Amino acid sequence: MVRLNDLLPAVGGREVHGPAELSVEGITYDSRQVKPGYIFVAISGYIEDGSSYIPQALEAGASVVVSSKRTERLARPSRWGGSATQVVVDNTREALAKLATAFYNYPSDKLNIIGITGTNGKTTVSYLTEAILKENGARVGVLGTIAYRLGEKILPAPITTPQSSDLQQMLRKLVDEKFTTVVMEVSSHALSLQRVEGCEFDSALFTNLSREHLDFHESMEEYLRAKIRLFSTLGKNARKEREKLAVLNLDDPSTEKIMQSTEAKIVTYGIERKADVGAKSIKLNLDKTIFSLLSPRGEIKISLPLIGKYNVYNALAAGAVAFGQGIDLDIIKRGLEKVSSIPGRFERIDCGQPFTVIVDYAHTHEALRKLLDTCRELKPKRIITVFGCGGDRDRGKRPLMGEVAIDLSDYVFVTSDNPRSEDPERIALDIEVGIKRRGKNNYQTVIDRFEAIEKAFSMAENGDLVAIAGKGHEDYQILKDRRVHFDDREVARKILSEKG
Ligand SMILES: Nc1ncnc2c1ncn2[C@@H]1O[C@H](COP(=O)(O)OP(=O)(O)O)[C@@H](O)[C@H]1O
Ligand SMILES: [Mg+2]
Repeated sequence: MVRLNDLLPAVGGREVHGPAELSVEGITYDSRQVKPGYIFVAISGYIEDGSSYIPQALEAGASVVVSSKRTERLARPSRWGGSATQVVVDNTREALAKLATAFYNYPSDKLNIIGITGTNGKTTVSYLTEAILKENGARVGVLGTIAYRLGEKILPAPITTPQSSDLQQMLRKLVDEKFTTVVMEVSSHALSLQRVEGCEFDSALFTNLSREHLDFHESMEEYLRAKIRLFSTLGKNARKEREKLAVLNLDDPSTEKIMQSTEAKIVTYGIERKADVGAKSIKLNLDKTIFSLLSPRGEIKISLPLIGKYNVYNALAAGAVAFGQGIDLDIIKRGLEKVSSIPGRFERIDCGQPFTVIVDYAHTHEALRKLLDTCRELKPKRIITVFGCGGDRDRGKRPLMGEVAIDLSDYVFVTSDNPRSEDPERIALDIEVGIKRRGKNNYQTVIDRFEAIEKAFSMAENGDLVAIAGKGHEDYQILKDRRVHFDDREVARKILSEKG
Protein backbone atom coordinates (compact mmCIF):
# COMPACT_ATOMS: atom_id res chain seq x y z
CA MET A 1 0.00 0.00 0.00
CA VAL A 2 1.30 3.41 -0.94
CA ARG A 3 0.53 6.42 1.26
CA LEU A 4 0.45 10.03 0.20
CA ASN A 5 2.91 10.75 3.01
CA ASP A 6 5.45 8.43 1.40
CA LEU A 7 5.15 10.12 -1.98
CA LEU A 8 5.30 13.75 -0.90
CA PRO A 9 9.07 13.88 -0.30
CA ALA A 10 9.51 13.26 -4.04
CA VAL A 11 8.12 16.72 -4.78
CA GLY A 12 10.00 19.66 -3.34
CA GLY A 13 8.32 23.01 -2.62
CA ARG A 14 4.63 22.32 -1.99
CA GLU A 15 1.79 23.11 0.38
CA VAL A 16 -0.52 20.40 1.62
CA HIS A 17 -4.09 21.18 2.67
CA GLY A 18 -5.83 18.23 4.27
CA PRO A 19 -4.75 14.84 5.58
CA ALA A 20 -1.68 13.14 4.11
CA GLU A 21 -2.12 9.86 5.96
CA LEU A 22 -4.23 8.28 3.26
CA SER A 23 -3.60 5.45 0.89
CA VAL A 24 -3.13 6.19 -2.79
CA GLU A 25 -4.62 3.82 -5.36
CA GLY A 26 -3.30 5.40 -8.52
CA ILE A 27 -2.18 8.62 -10.16
CA THR A 28 -3.33 10.32 -13.33
CA TYR A 29 -3.57 13.63 -15.20
CA ASP A 30 -6.70 12.53 -17.09
CA SER A 31 -9.92 13.04 -15.14
CA ARG A 32 -11.56 10.24 -17.15
CA GLN A 33 -9.06 7.76 -15.73
CA VAL A 34 -9.66 8.69 -12.10
CA LYS A 35 -10.87 5.97 -9.75
CA PRO A 36 -11.60 6.21 -6.01
CA GLY A 37 -8.44 6.93 -4.04
CA TYR A 38 -6.51 8.35 -7.00
CA ILE A 39 -4.25 11.36 -7.10
CA PHE A 40 -5.42 13.72 -9.84
CA VAL A 41 -2.73 16.08 -11.13
CA ALA A 42 -4.22 19.10 -12.90
CA ILE A 43 -1.66 19.84 -15.61
CA SER A 44 -1.76 23.33 -17.03
CA GLY A 45 -1.34 22.61 -20.71
CA TYR A 46 -0.95 25.00 -23.60
CA ILE A 47 -4.45 24.28 -24.87
CA GLU A 48 -6.44 23.45 -21.79
CA ASP A 49 -6.06 24.06 -18.11
CA GLY A 50 -6.33 20.80 -16.22
CA SER A 51 -7.77 22.57 -13.19
CA SER A 52 -11.10 22.87 -14.99
CA TYR A 53 -11.32 19.08 -14.69
CA ILE A 54 -10.93 19.04 -10.91
CA PRO A 55 -14.71 18.75 -10.31
CA GLN A 56 -14.89 15.71 -12.63
CA ALA A 57 -11.91 14.10 -10.91
CA LEU A 58 -13.53 14.60 -7.51
CA GLU A 59 -16.81 13.23 -8.79
CA ALA A 60 -14.93 10.09 -9.84
CA GLY A 61 -13.46 9.74 -6.34
CA ALA A 62 -10.03 11.41 -6.46
CA SER A 63 -8.79 11.74 -2.88
CA VAL A 64 -5.87 14.02 -3.71
CA VAL A 65 -5.72 16.93 -6.12
CA VAL A 66 -2.37 18.36 -7.15
CA SER A 67 -2.48 21.75 -8.84
CA SER A 68 -0.58 24.98 -9.15
CA LYS A 69 -3.29 27.11 -7.51
CA ARG A 70 -5.20 26.65 -4.31
CA THR A 71 -8.88 25.89 -4.74
CA GLU A 72 -10.79 27.11 -1.68
CA ARG A 73 -12.94 24.10 -1.04
CA LEU A 74 -12.55 20.77 -2.72
CA ALA A 75 -16.02 19.31 -2.52
CA ARG A 76 -15.85 15.58 -2.97
CA PRO A 77 -19.18 13.76 -3.16
CA SER A 78 -20.12 12.41 0.27
CA ARG A 79 -20.13 8.83 -1.01
CA TRP A 80 -16.34 9.23 -1.26
CA GLY A 81 -16.13 10.66 2.22
CA GLY A 82 -16.42 14.40 1.68
CA SER A 83 -13.35 16.58 1.31
CA ALA A 84 -10.14 15.74 -0.57
CA THR A 85 -6.55 16.70 0.13
CA GLN A 86 -5.02 19.40 -1.98
CA VAL A 87 -1.32 19.64 -2.79
CA VAL A 88 -0.19 22.91 -4.35
CA VAL A 89 3.06 22.83 -6.36
CA ASP A 90 4.89 25.25 -8.65
CA ASN A 91 5.28 22.88 -11.54
CA THR A 92 2.49 20.37 -12.08
CA ARG A 93 4.23 18.45 -14.90
CA GLU A 94 7.27 17.88 -12.76
CA ALA A 95 5.07 16.90 -9.83
CA LEU A 96 3.17 14.38 -11.96
CA ALA A 97 6.44 12.81 -13.09
CA LYS A 98 7.99 12.71 -9.65
CA LEU A 99 4.90 11.45 -7.83
CA ALA A 100 4.37 8.76 -10.47
CA THR A 101 8.02 7.70 -10.31
CA ALA A 102 7.71 7.31 -6.54
CA PHE A 103 4.27 5.66 -6.76
CA TYR A 104 5.60 3.00 -9.15
CA ASN A 105 8.72 2.70 -6.99
CA TYR A 106 11.42 3.94 -9.34
CA PRO A 107 11.08 1.29 -12.07
CA SER A 108 13.88 2.75 -14.21
CA ASP A 109 16.33 1.67 -11.46
CA LYS A 110 15.88 -1.90 -12.60
CA LEU A 111 16.21 -1.36 -16.35
CA ASN A 112 18.89 -0.52 -18.89
CA ILE A 113 17.23 2.46 -20.55
CA ILE A 114 18.32 3.82 -23.89
CA GLY A 115 16.81 7.14 -24.98
CA ILE A 116 16.98 8.25 -28.59
CA THR A 117 16.52 11.85 -29.63
CA GLY A 118 17.08 13.92 -32.78
CA THR A 119 14.99 15.11 -35.71
CA ASN A 120 15.12 12.05 -37.97
CA GLY A 121 15.92 8.39 -37.56
CA LYS A 122 14.70 7.82 -34.00
CA THR A 123 12.21 5.09 -34.84
CA THR A 124 14.63 3.32 -37.17
CA VAL A 125 17.45 3.46 -34.65
CA SER A 126 15.12 2.14 -31.93
CA TYR A 127 14.30 -0.94 -34.04
CA LEU A 128 17.96 -1.53 -34.91
CA THR A 129 19.06 -1.13 -31.29
CA GLU A 130 16.31 -3.47 -30.14
CA ALA A 131 17.46 -6.11 -32.63
CA ILE A 132 21.07 -5.98 -31.41
CA LEU A 133 20.16 -6.05 -27.72
CA LYS A 134 17.78 -8.96 -28.28
CA GLU A 135 20.51 -10.78 -30.14
CA ASN A 136 22.60 -10.21 -27.02
CA GLY A 137 19.96 -11.95 -24.89
CA ALA A 138 18.13 -8.94 -23.42
CA ARG A 139 14.37 -8.77 -22.99
CA VAL A 140 13.59 -5.46 -24.64
CA GLY A 141 10.56 -3.18 -24.47
CA VAL A 142 10.28 -0.48 -27.14
CA LEU A 143 8.39 2.80 -26.74
CA GLY A 144 8.06 5.03 -29.77
CA THR A 145 6.11 6.44 -32.68
CA ILE A 146 4.84 3.19 -34.18
CA ALA A 147 3.68 1.55 -30.93
CA TYR A 148 4.51 0.88 -27.31
CA ARG A 149 5.73 -2.71 -27.43
CA LEU A 150 5.81 -4.36 -24.04
CA GLY A 151 6.60 -7.88 -25.14
CA GLU A 152 3.41 -9.62 -26.26
CA LYS A 153 1.43 -6.56 -25.40
CA ILE A 154 1.39 -3.94 -28.12
CA LEU A 155 -0.33 -0.66 -27.23
CA PRO A 156 -1.14 2.08 -29.73
CA ALA A 157 1.14 5.10 -29.33
CA PRO A 158 -0.94 8.29 -29.48
CA ILE A 159 2.27 10.25 -28.89
CA THR A 160 5.89 9.19 -29.52
CA THR A 161 6.92 9.49 -25.87
CA PRO A 162 4.18 8.72 -23.32
CA GLN A 163 3.11 11.17 -20.60
CA SER A 164 5.24 10.71 -17.47
CA SER A 165 2.73 8.79 -15.36
CA ASP A 166 1.90 6.46 -18.28
CA LEU A 167 5.59 5.99 -18.90
CA GLN A 168 6.31 5.09 -15.28
CA GLN A 169 3.38 2.67 -15.28
CA MET A 170 4.72 0.97 -18.41
CA LEU A 171 8.24 0.79 -16.98
CA ARG A 172 6.83 -0.82 -13.83
CA LYS A 173 4.99 -3.39 -15.94
CA LEU A 174 8.21 -4.16 -17.80
CA VAL A 175 10.15 -4.62 -14.56
CA ASP A 176 7.42 -6.88 -13.14
CA GLU A 177 7.53 -8.98 -16.29
CA LYS A 178 11.30 -9.40 -16.04
CA PHE A 179 12.29 -7.17 -18.92
CA THR A 180 15.89 -5.99 -18.69
CA THR A 181 16.01 -3.22 -21.25
CA VAL A 182 13.94 -0.40 -22.70
CA VAL A 183 14.64 1.43 -25.92
CA MET A 184 12.65 4.62 -26.23
CA GLU A 185 12.26 7.51 -28.62
CA VAL A 186 12.43 10.76 -26.71
CA SER A 187 10.80 13.57 -28.64
CA SER A 188 11.80 17.15 -28.01
CA HIS A 189 8.21 17.81 -26.85
CA ALA A 190 8.67 15.11 -24.24
CA LEU A 191 11.86 16.76 -23.00
CA SER A 192 10.31 20.24 -22.88
CA LEU A 193 7.20 18.95 -21.17
CA GLN A 194 9.10 16.88 -18.60
CA ARG A 195 7.55 13.58 -19.60
CA VAL A 196 10.79 11.69 -19.01
CA GLU A 197 11.54 13.35 -15.68
CA GLY A 198 12.15 10.57 -13.15
CA CYS A 199 13.31 8.17 -15.82
CA GLU A 200 17.04 7.47 -15.41
CA PHE A 201 18.62 6.88 -18.81
CA ASP A 202 21.74 4.76 -19.11
CA SER A 203 22.50 5.71 -22.68
CA ALA A 204 21.31 8.74 -24.59
CA LEU A 205 21.64 8.78 -28.34
CA PHE A 206 21.53 11.71 -30.73
CA THR A 207 20.71 11.20 -34.43
CA ASN A 208 20.72 14.64 -36.06
CA LEU A 209 19.05 18.02 -35.88
CA SER A 210 17.06 19.90 -38.47
CA ARG A 211 14.15 22.26 -38.75
CA GLU A 212 11.01 20.71 -37.33
CA HIS A 213 8.33 21.57 -34.80
CA LEU A 214 9.42 25.17 -35.00
CA ASP A 215 5.92 26.38 -34.23
CA PHE A 216 6.35 24.70 -30.88
CA HIS A 217 9.95 25.52 -30.07
CA GLU A 218 10.18 28.94 -31.73
CA SER A 219 13.81 28.73 -32.67
CA MET A 220 16.53 26.24 -33.46
CA GLU A 221 18.40 27.31 -30.35
CA GLU A 222 15.46 26.53 -28.15
CA TYR A 223 14.92 23.24 -30.00
CA LEU A 224 18.54 22.26 -29.46
CA ARG A 225 18.28 23.24 -25.81
CA ALA A 226 15.35 20.86 -25.40
CA LYS A 227 17.31 18.02 -27.00
CA ILE A 228 20.40 18.80 -24.94
CA ARG A 229 18.46 18.21 -21.74
CA LEU A 230 18.63 14.46 -22.35
CA PHE A 231 22.43 14.69 -22.32
CA SER A 232 23.02 17.38 -19.72
CA THR A 233 20.92 15.50 -17.15
CA LEU A 234 22.49 12.15 -18.02
CA GLY A 235 24.01 10.68 -14.88
CA LYS A 236 23.04 13.65 -12.66
CA ASN A 237 21.68 12.38 -9.30
CA ALA A 238 22.13 8.86 -10.62
CA ARG A 239 20.54 6.00 -8.67
CA LYS A 240 22.10 3.27 -10.83
CA GLU A 241 25.73 2.22 -11.07
CA ARG A 242 25.93 1.57 -14.79
CA GLU A 243 28.28 3.86 -16.71
CA LYS A 244 26.33 6.49 -18.62
CA LEU A 245 26.88 6.83 -22.34
CA ALA A 246 26.23 9.75 -24.67
CA VAL A 247 26.20 8.40 -28.21
CA LEU A 248 26.65 11.22 -30.71
CA ASN A 249 26.69 11.74 -34.46
CA LEU A 250 30.06 13.34 -35.17
CA ASP A 251 28.95 14.43 -38.66
CA ASP A 252 26.17 16.64 -37.27
CA PRO A 253 27.12 20.23 -36.39
CA SER A 254 25.00 20.24 -33.22
CA THR A 255 27.02 17.45 -31.68
CA GLU A 256 29.72 19.80 -30.45
CA LYS A 257 27.25 21.69 -28.25
CA ILE A 258 25.88 18.45 -26.87
CA MET A 259 29.39 17.23 -26.08
CA GLN A 260 30.01 20.32 -24.00
CA SER A 261 26.80 19.76 -22.07
CA THR A 262 27.31 16.23 -20.87
CA GLU A 263 29.42 14.59 -18.19
CA ALA A 264 28.69 11.10 -19.50
CA LYS A 265 31.19 9.00 -21.42
CA ILE A 266 31.01 9.92 -25.10
CA VAL A 267 30.88 7.40 -27.92
CA THR A 268 30.80 8.95 -31.40
CA TYR A 269 29.70 7.59 -34.74
CA GLY A 270 29.96 9.05 -38.22
CA ILE A 271 30.98 8.55 -41.80
CA GLU A 272 32.63 11.83 -42.83
CA ARG A 273 34.62 12.51 -39.69
CA LYS A 274 36.72 9.99 -37.85
CA ALA A 275 34.50 8.66 -35.11
CA ASP A 276 34.70 5.78 -32.63
CA VAL A 277 32.26 3.81 -34.74
CA GLY A 278 32.48 4.48 -38.46
CA ALA A 279 31.81 2.98 -41.86
CA LYS A 280 33.73 2.42 -45.07
CA SER A 281 33.22 0.67 -48.40
CA ILE A 282 29.54 1.63 -48.43
CA LYS A 283 27.58 0.04 -51.28
CA LEU A 284 24.02 1.21 -51.73
CA ASN A 285 21.97 -1.44 -53.48
CA LEU A 286 18.32 -1.74 -54.45
CA ASP A 287 17.60 -4.36 -51.86
CA LYS A 288 20.27 -3.87 -49.20
CA THR A 289 23.15 -1.74 -48.05
CA ILE A 290 26.59 -3.18 -47.55
CA PHE A 291 29.35 -1.56 -45.52
CA SER A 292 32.17 -2.28 -43.11
CA LEU A 293 31.52 -1.14 -39.57
CA LEU A 294 34.74 0.20 -38.05
CA SER A 295 35.44 0.32 -34.34
CA PRO A 296 38.37 0.40 -31.96
CA ARG A 297 37.73 -3.31 -31.42
CA GLY A 298 38.02 -4.15 -35.11
CA GLU A 299 35.83 -4.03 -38.18
CA ILE A 300 33.04 -6.20 -39.48
CA LYS A 301 31.15 -6.39 -42.76
CA ILE A 302 27.44 -5.68 -42.48
CA SER A 303 24.76 -6.52 -45.00
CA LEU A 304 21.94 -4.26 -43.86
CA PRO A 305 18.49 -5.03 -45.29
CA LEU A 306 17.53 -1.33 -45.10
CA ILE A 307 18.07 0.99 -48.06
CA GLY A 308 19.81 4.35 -48.31
CA LYS A 309 22.83 6.11 -46.87
CA TYR A 310 20.96 7.55 -43.92
CA ASN A 311 20.32 4.03 -42.76
CA VAL A 312 24.08 3.54 -42.53
CA TYR A 313 23.99 6.38 -39.98
CA ASN A 314 21.09 4.71 -38.22
CA ALA A 315 22.93 1.39 -38.12
CA LEU A 316 26.10 3.07 -36.84
CA ALA A 317 24.08 4.80 -34.13
CA ALA A 318 22.61 1.51 -32.94
CA GLY A 319 25.98 -0.17 -33.33
CA ALA A 320 27.68 2.58 -31.31
CA VAL A 321 25.28 2.22 -28.38
CA ALA A 322 25.79 -1.52 -28.37
CA PHE A 323 29.55 -1.08 -28.76
CA GLY A 324 29.59 1.35 -25.84
CA GLN A 325 27.66 -1.14 -23.73
CA GLY A 326 30.34 -3.73 -24.46
CA ILE A 327 28.47 -5.90 -26.95
CA ASP A 328 30.58 -7.94 -29.39
CA LEU A 329 30.84 -6.94 -33.02
CA ASP A 330 29.48 -10.23 -34.32
CA ILE A 331 26.36 -9.80 -32.20
CA ILE A 332 25.98 -6.26 -33.51
CA LYS A 333 26.25 -7.65 -37.04
CA ARG A 334 23.69 -10.40 -36.44
CA GLY A 335 21.22 -7.96 -34.88
CA LEU A 336 21.51 -5.35 -37.65
CA GLU A 337 21.15 -7.95 -40.36
CA LYS A 338 17.90 -9.23 -38.86
CA VAL A 339 15.91 -6.02 -39.32
CA SER A 340 14.27 -6.60 -42.69
CA SER A 341 12.20 -3.41 -42.80
CA ILE A 342 10.73 -0.73 -40.56
CA PRO A 343 6.98 -0.10 -40.96
CA GLY A 344 6.44 2.91 -43.25
CA ARG A 345 10.14 3.73 -43.54
CA PHE A 346 11.19 3.30 -47.16
CA GLU A 347 8.69 0.47 -47.33
CA ARG A 348 8.42 -1.04 -50.77
CA ILE A 349 4.99 -1.99 -52.13
CA ASP A 350 5.26 -4.69 -54.71
CA CYS A 351 2.17 -6.05 -56.45
CA GLY A 352 4.04 -7.05 -59.56
CA GLN A 353 3.67 -3.61 -61.21
CA PRO A 354 6.39 -2.55 -63.67
CA PHE A 355 7.42 0.46 -61.55
CA THR A 356 8.71 0.83 -57.97
CA VAL A 357 6.45 2.14 -55.19
CA ILE A 358 7.94 3.41 -51.95
CA VAL A 359 5.91 4.51 -48.91
CA ASP A 360 7.87 6.66 -46.50
CA TYR A 361 7.19 8.74 -43.42
CA ALA A 362 9.36 11.70 -44.53
CA HIS A 363 7.43 14.81 -43.50
CA THR A 364 10.16 17.43 -43.20
CA HIS A 365 12.05 18.97 -46.09
CA GLU A 366 15.31 17.38 -44.95
CA ALA A 367 13.76 13.94 -44.69
CA LEU A 368 12.06 14.45 -48.05
CA ARG A 369 15.40 15.42 -49.58
CA LYS A 370 17.05 12.32 -48.14
CA LEU A 371 14.18 10.16 -49.31
CA LEU A 372 14.29 11.51 -52.86
CA ASP A 373 18.11 11.39 -53.00
CA THR A 374 17.89 7.79 -51.93
CA CYS A 375 15.27 7.10 -54.59
CA ARG A 376 17.56 8.70 -57.19
CA GLU A 377 20.41 6.44 -56.14
CA LEU A 378 18.23 3.49 -57.17
CA LYS A 379 18.40 4.96 -60.73
CA PRO A 380 14.74 4.91 -61.72
CA LYS A 381 13.73 6.40 -65.08
CA ARG A 382 11.57 9.07 -63.44
CA ILE A 383 10.57 9.90 -59.87
CA ILE A 384 6.93 10.79 -59.30
CA THR A 385 6.36 12.17 -55.81
CA VAL A 386 3.07 12.34 -53.92
CA PHE A 387 3.11 14.38 -50.72
CA GLY A 388 1.38 17.03 -48.62
CA CYS A 389 1.95 19.00 -45.43
CA GLY A 390 0.09 18.77 -42.14
CA GLY A 391 -2.32 21.46 -41.00
CA ASP A 392 -1.91 23.43 -37.75
CA ARG A 393 1.84 22.84 -37.88
CA ASP A 394 4.93 24.86 -38.88
CA ARG A 395 3.81 26.72 -42.02
CA GLY A 396 7.36 27.71 -42.85
CA LYS A 397 8.27 24.23 -43.94
CA ARG A 398 5.58 24.02 -46.64
CA PRO A 399 7.34 26.02 -49.38
CA LEU A 400 10.63 24.36 -48.41
CA MET A 401 9.09 20.95 -48.95
CA GLY A 402 7.64 22.19 -52.25
CA GLU A 403 11.11 23.24 -53.40
CA VAL A 404 12.74 19.97 -52.41
CA ALA A 405 9.98 17.91 -54.03
CA ILE A 406 10.11 19.76 -57.35
CA ASP A 407 13.93 19.91 -57.41
CA LEU A 408 14.34 16.19 -56.93
CA SER A 409 11.33 14.75 -58.77
CA ASP A 410 10.29 14.52 -62.37
CA TYR A 411 6.66 15.10 -61.46
CA VAL A 412 4.93 16.06 -58.22
CA PHE A 413 1.40 15.51 -56.94
CA VAL A 414 0.64 17.89 -54.09
CA THR A 415 -2.06 16.40 -51.86
CA SER A 416 -3.40 16.33 -48.28
CA ASP A 417 -1.59 15.05 -45.21
CA ASN A 418 -3.62 15.51 -42.02
CA PRO A 419 -5.03 18.98 -42.81
CA ARG A 420 -6.58 19.15 -39.32
CA SER A 421 -8.47 22.42 -38.84
CA GLU A 422 -6.93 24.09 -41.90
CA ASP A 423 -8.32 24.27 -45.40
CA PRO A 424 -6.34 21.67 -47.42
CA GLU A 425 -6.42 23.93 -50.48
CA ARG A 426 -4.66 26.65 -48.53
CA ILE A 427 -1.98 24.27 -47.33
CA ALA A 428 -1.42 23.18 -50.93
CA LEU A 429 -1.08 26.83 -51.98
CA ASP A 430 1.67 27.30 -49.38
CA ILE A 431 3.50 24.32 -50.87
CA GLU A 432 3.00 25.67 -54.39
CA VAL A 433 4.74 28.90 -53.38
CA GLY A 434 7.95 26.88 -53.09
CA ILE A 435 7.37 25.04 -56.35
CA LYS A 436 6.71 28.27 -58.22
CA ARG A 437 9.87 29.82 -56.79
CA ARG A 438 11.66 27.25 -58.90
CA GLY A 439 9.68 28.32 -61.96
CA LYS A 440 8.41 24.80 -62.53
CA ASN A 441 5.02 23.57 -63.65
CA ASN A 442 5.52 19.81 -63.77
CA TYR A 443 3.14 19.30 -60.88
CA GLN A 444 -0.54 19.26 -60.04
CA THR A 445 -2.55 19.56 -56.89
CA VAL A 446 -4.97 16.73 -56.19
CA ILE A 447 -6.41 17.31 -52.73
CA ASP A 448 -7.91 13.83 -52.35
CA ARG A 449 -4.98 11.61 -51.37
CA PHE A 450 -6.47 8.43 -52.82
CA GLU A 451 -7.01 10.15 -56.15
CA ALA A 452 -3.49 11.63 -56.07
CA ILE A 453 -1.96 8.17 -55.59
CA GLU A 454 -4.19 6.79 -58.32
CA LYS A 455 -3.10 9.52 -60.75
CA ALA A 456 0.55 8.96 -59.90
CA PHE A 457 0.19 5.25 -60.68
CA SER A 458 -1.59 5.99 -63.96
CA MET A 459 1.26 8.26 -64.97
CA ALA A 460 3.99 5.80 -63.94
CA GLU A 461 5.60 3.76 -66.69
CA ASN A 462 8.05 0.93 -66.82
CA GLY A 463 11.11 1.68 -64.66
CA ASP A 464 9.65 4.72 -62.90
CA LEU A 465 9.48 5.15 -59.14
CA VAL A 466 6.51 6.55 -57.23
CA ALA A 467 7.42 7.94 -53.80
CA ILE A 468 4.44 8.41 -51.49
CA ALA A 469 5.74 10.50 -48.63
CA GLY A 470 4.50 11.75 -45.28
CA LYS A 471 2.35 9.08 -43.68
CA GLY A 472 4.47 5.95 -43.57
CA HIS A 473 2.92 3.62 -40.97
CA GLU A 474 0.04 6.00 -40.14
CA ASP A 475 -3.35 4.55 -40.97
CA TYR A 476 -5.46 7.66 -40.64
CA GLN A 477 -6.09 11.09 -42.10
CA ILE A 478 -7.02 13.88 -39.65
CA LEU A 479 -9.61 16.21 -41.14
CA LYS A 480 -11.33 19.26 -39.71
CA ASP A 481 -13.97 17.44 -37.73
CA ARG A 482 -12.97 13.80 -37.83
CA ARG A 483 -10.30 11.22 -38.28
CA VAL A 484 -10.77 8.75 -41.12
CA HIS A 485 -8.97 5.49 -41.88
CA PHE A 486 -6.31 5.99 -44.54
CA ASP A 487 -3.23 3.84 -45.06
CA ASP A 488 -0.94 4.66 -48.01
CA ARG A 489 0.30 1.07 -48.16
CA GLU A 490 -3.22 -0.33 -48.19
CA VAL A 491 -4.39 2.21 -50.77
CA ALA A 492 -1.37 1.55 -52.97
CA ARG A 493 -1.96 -2.21 -52.86
CA LYS A 494 -5.65 -1.77 -53.58
CA ILE A 495 -5.10 0.43 -56.62
CA LEU A 496 -2.24 -1.70 -57.94
CA SER A 497 -4.12 -4.97 -57.62
CA GLU A 498 -7.24 -3.53 -59.26
CA LYS A 499 -5.14 -2.18 -62.11
CA GLY A 500 -3.20 -5.37 -62.72
N1 LIG B 1 19.52 9.27 -40.06
C1 LIG B 1 18.62 9.90 -40.80
N2 LIG B 1 18.91 11.13 -41.31
C2 LIG B 1 18.03 11.79 -42.03
N3 LIG B 1 16.82 11.33 -42.37
C3 LIG B 1 16.46 10.14 -41.90
C4 LIG B 1 17.34 9.37 -41.09
N4 LIG B 1 16.72 8.23 -40.76
C5 LIG B 1 15.51 8.29 -41.32
N5 LIG B 1 15.35 9.43 -42.02
C6 LIG B 1 14.15 9.88 -42.75
O1 LIG B 1 13.19 10.24 -41.76
C7 LIG B 1 12.03 9.44 -41.88
C8 LIG B 1 11.55 9.06 -40.51
O2 LIG B 1 12.44 8.13 -39.94
P1 LIG B 1 12.19 7.60 -38.48
O3 LIG B 1 13.16 6.52 -38.24
O4 LIG B 1 10.77 7.30 -38.34
O5 LIG B 1 12.59 8.88 -37.64
P2 LIG B 1 11.86 9.64 -36.43
O6 LIG B 1 11.36 8.62 -35.48
O7 LIG B 1 12.96 10.47 -35.85
O8 LIG B 1 10.78 10.47 -37.04
C9 LIG B 1 12.45 8.24 -42.72
O9 LIG B 1 11.40 7.71 -43.44
C10 LIG B 1 13.49 8.83 -43.62
O10 LIG B 1 12.88 9.50 -44.70
MG1 LIG C 1 9.66 8.37 -34.51
